Amino acid sequence: MATPHITAEAGQIAELVLMPGDPKRAARIAETFLTDAQLVSDVRGIGCYTGTYQGSPMSVMASGMGIASLSIYATELFRFYGVKRICRVGTCGGISPAVKVRDVIIGNAAHTNSNVSTLYTPGVTMSLAASFDMLRGAVDQARSMELAEGAQVHVGPVYSSDFFYLNRADVAEGLDRVGTLGVEMEAAGLYACAALEGAEALTVLTVSDHLKDGSGDMSAEERETSFGNALQIAAAGLLA
Ligand code: HPA
Repeated sequence: MATPHITAEAGQIAELVLMPGDPKRAARIAETFLTDAQLVSDVRGIGCYTGTYQGSPMSVMASGMGIASLSIYATELFRFYGVKRICRVGTCGGISPAVKVRDVIIGNAAHTNSNVSTLYTPGVTMSLAASFDMLRGAVDQARSMELAEGAQVHVGPVYSSDFFYLNRADVAEGLDRVGTLGVEMEAAGLYACAALEGAEALTVLTVSDHLKDGSGDMSAEERETSFGNALQIAAAGLLA
């Protein structure tokens, strides 16, 4: 079997999938975090790797950037490959002043300027929310561990924007006022796909930069290598 964007055989992708944005990060997670990971699909350089984590089959596959790209991979995994749970593991910009660079945000819900929230329910805005069981598993893990580099864990809503370069201070201000922790570009699409396909999803983010405080941004290299905290929390969400 194959889909337009995945060439793995039936059964080659685990029911539990870690989903970073960047294909290089997916390869790195496969090498360093999973055991005996094998490449099972590589369409458009989006490698899908399947191995095990703590004895359970687990796959890792990148989403690419943005809701449009993520929704293609998430839908094909849920609908055609029998995937039950996807945990996005990515980066975000901090919105709340309580959030610092290197902290971890577990996204219990996602606000968005994408029309994915109204596309399937005309006249109604869908609540785009994480799986409760995955969220509980991830939060339990996060609260029981000592995070590297003194990072803190925050649980709350994130904002999934369709535009990386839409620098609207008024929008960020409004989102901060209603308790939004950070901005990224995929979580809302993942939660919508999970709802549509009757599956489960969660988002665990490392804060790589801050909208209000540009002093401590992580370098591209740091972004790729320093996600140990978030990965452990994400995997616990998948296994919960
Ligand atoms: N905006 C959107 N997506 C992001 C950001 C940001 O500031 N940082 C990391 N992903």
